[in-house]
Amino acid sequence: MTKEDALKILGELGNSKNMANHGKAAGFAMAALFDYFKSKGQKFELSKEDWEIVGLLHDADYEKTNKSLELHTEETTKLLNQINANQIIINAIRGHCDKSPRDTLIAKSIYAVDELTGLIVACALVQPDKKLNSVTVESVLRKFKDKSFAAGANRDQIKTCETELSIPLEEFILITLKSMQEKSEDLGL
Ligand SMILES: [Fe+2]
Repeated sequence: MTKEDALKILGELGNSKNMANHGKAAGFAMAALFDYFKSKGQKFELSKEDWEIVGLLHDADYEKTNKSLELHTEETTKLLNQINANQIIINAIRGHCDKSPRDTLIAKSIYAVDELTGLIVACALVQPDKKLNSVTVESVLRKFKDKSFAAGANRDQIKTCETELSIPLEEFILITLKSMQEKSEDLGL
C-alpha cells in the first residue's frame, strides 16, 4: 500500500483537521524513527513509507468510533484488510491501543511516539508565537516532568522509548521534535 491509500482511508473515515494533523505528526515522527534505526544498522521488512503510514493511520477511526476504546482501530483494520495491507502494519496500528501484541519495532515505535507528538504540540501552543520552531528539547523535557501539563499525554507510554526501543528519552524527544519542526508548515504550527 502507498501513502496515497493511507490518505484515502483517513478521508474516508472523516477525520477533523486536528485529528488528521495528529496522524501526520505521528507519520513524520515514524519516518524519522525509521531513519534512526536504519542508521544503527537495523534491517527492515517494511519500508519507510510503511512506517509513515502507521503513524498516519494509527488513530484514523478514533473520531468515527466516538473515541470508544473497544471499537478503536476496528474500522481502520476493516479498510486495511480490504486493500490487503501488510499484517505487520495492521498489527502495529492495533497494538498501540492494546488490540495486538507490540512484538515488532514498528509497533513499539508508534506506541511510544504517539503520546510524545501530542505533548510536543501542547508545548508549541504555549509558546508566545505558538510555533513548533520555538520549542526546544529542554522545554519538552521540563514539561514532561511537569505532570500537570498536558496531563493526558501518558508519560509512562513515552518512556517506553528507553525500555522497548533503547533510545534515551532526550534523544527520542530530539528525533521526534526535529521531524515535526521540519514539517511545521504541513502541521499548521
Ligand atoms: Fe495517537
